[in-house]
Amino acid sequence: MTDTYLELSHSAWGNAFVSLLGLPKPPRLKRGEGAWSERPLDGQAGVYGAAEGGQLSPALLRALHDAGASLRVRPELTGFEAVKRAAAELNVTLTGMPVTGETVPPAQFIVYDASGLSRPERLHELYEFFQPLAARIAPNGRVVIVTRTPESASEAPRAACAASLRGFIKSLGKEIGRKGATANLIEVAPGSEAGLAGALRFLLSERAAYVSGQPLVLDAKGAAGSWAAPLKGKTALVTGAARGIGASIAEVLAREGAQVIGVDRPQEEGELAATLARFAGAGLPLDITAADAPARIAAECRSRFGGLDVIVHNAGITRDKTLRNMPPHFWDQVIEVNLAAIVRINEQLLQDGLKDGARMVCISSIGGIAGNPGQTNYGATKSGVIGYVRAMAPLMAQRGGAINAVAPGFIETAMTAQMPAVPRIMGRLLSSVMQGGLPVDIAEAVGFLASGYASGVNGQTLRVCGQHLSGG
Ligand code: NAI
Repeated sequence: MTDTYLELSHSAWGNAFVSLLGLPKPPRLKRGEGAWSERPLDGQAGVYGAAEGGQLSPALLRALHDAGASLRVRPELTGFEAVKRAAAELNVTLTGMPVTGETVPPAQFIVYDASGLSRPERLHELYEFFQPLAARIAPNGRVVIVTRTPESASEAPRAACAASLRGFIKSLGKEIGRKGATANLIEVAPGSEAGLAGALRFLLSERAAYVSGQPLVLDAKGAAGSWAAPLKGKTALVTGAARGIGASIAEVLAREGAQVIGVDRPQEEGELAATLARFAGAGLPLDITAADAPARIAAECRSRFGGLDVIVHNAGITRDKTLRNMPPHFWDQVIEVNLAAIVRINEQLLQDGLKDGARMVCISSIGGIAGNPGQTNYGATKSGVIGYVRAMAPLMAQRGGAINAVAPGFIETAMTAQMPAVPRIMGRLLSSVMQGGLPVDIAEAVGFLASGYASGVNGQTLRVCGQHLSGG
């Protein structure tokens, strides 16, 4: 569905109208085109900095260098000496940059290692680094701060500093969202540093155009696979693949090399076949709530493809009514499709049909985080998904894999097209980037979580909502 207001505000006369009335003008978000590559930051210039005592510069500089980025630094700041040493060891070239004013060139991205911050007084270092840069973040620019998980801090003041970064990036994200720029945080548990490069590549990319104000926690072991075609040779099953977000997920997974099996209801068989024909996907028309669905999925995947490497539980429905007016079948249908079927299918696949190292992704919703009137059923299932992936994470880790969730915000699909006009407009404008997301925004996040790029991520829920006010 088209966002008429966004299109209008970018037309010649619409722009004049919007400016005259002082109305918000949503930015045009730049989205990634084509498949992942070895050096996605080739030709991009960013700024790198670190608080004194930070431990993550070697891993971060290596990751940025390997991705092709050129890096500018601020040598006058206290943390610079350690950055310089790490760069020298890695043979990474750093360029000094002017400190303030119009002479500071726009930064396409900014990466900051905040892991050295040990006491609240030292948060001044954060201010000192970012304040002169705040006005110089390029349109569609990216800010990523990296720190240790607050839980891993040995002392409370250090934990306070690590936790303060969540509030910092959320507020910064709201300040820079109007130019399509984003701010996110990576929290690294000790032992999970190998996951940094993949997480950084994702958050710095145009694929994360609709991800802002989010902490991404790395607390799983495992090395990333190949950067180009990360799903080559993998078999991926996507439910609800006929249209909307599911169709886009299926397409992105196929683009990254996966053989895709698309599931959708038998009555959508024609649309499912048309979608899958675009990338030689295999169709499996069935209702995921049917009693025999888990066994059929397991048998089909095993016999035709030798088992699954990736499963994406995307199929979902709404049956909205306030609780006082909700008939029992509205309640039951939503619980069945959005949560109970996921649990049953996974129980079957864990016995039969899932390969070692398999990665699962479930689609939640910010409706399960913030709640919505008329969606007690839907909200219950979508927060149930968040709890489910957290609880399943240790089991998946034992098998060398992972399970995570994506919580979309307002995404332009048939589901949101049914919404009344006012909530629909609010759904768009109340995000930091003042617009709804596209199915591909969810698909790219799923592609990240389904691949070795997210090797450090397990049991997490990533919100892809443009930092929407409700749940951002
Ligand atoms: P959609 O309604 O456009 O597509 C859902 C697909 O799931 C359809 O192809 C449908 O036939 C299929 N499906 C439904 N019940 C099924 C069943 N019993 N068995 C097999 N397939 C079934 O929905 P959309 O917008 O693409 O949503 C996809 C997922 O994203 C859902 O889980 C939804 O709750 C979630 N979501 C969507 C948001 C949005 O703004 N569109 C926001 C937050 C979450």
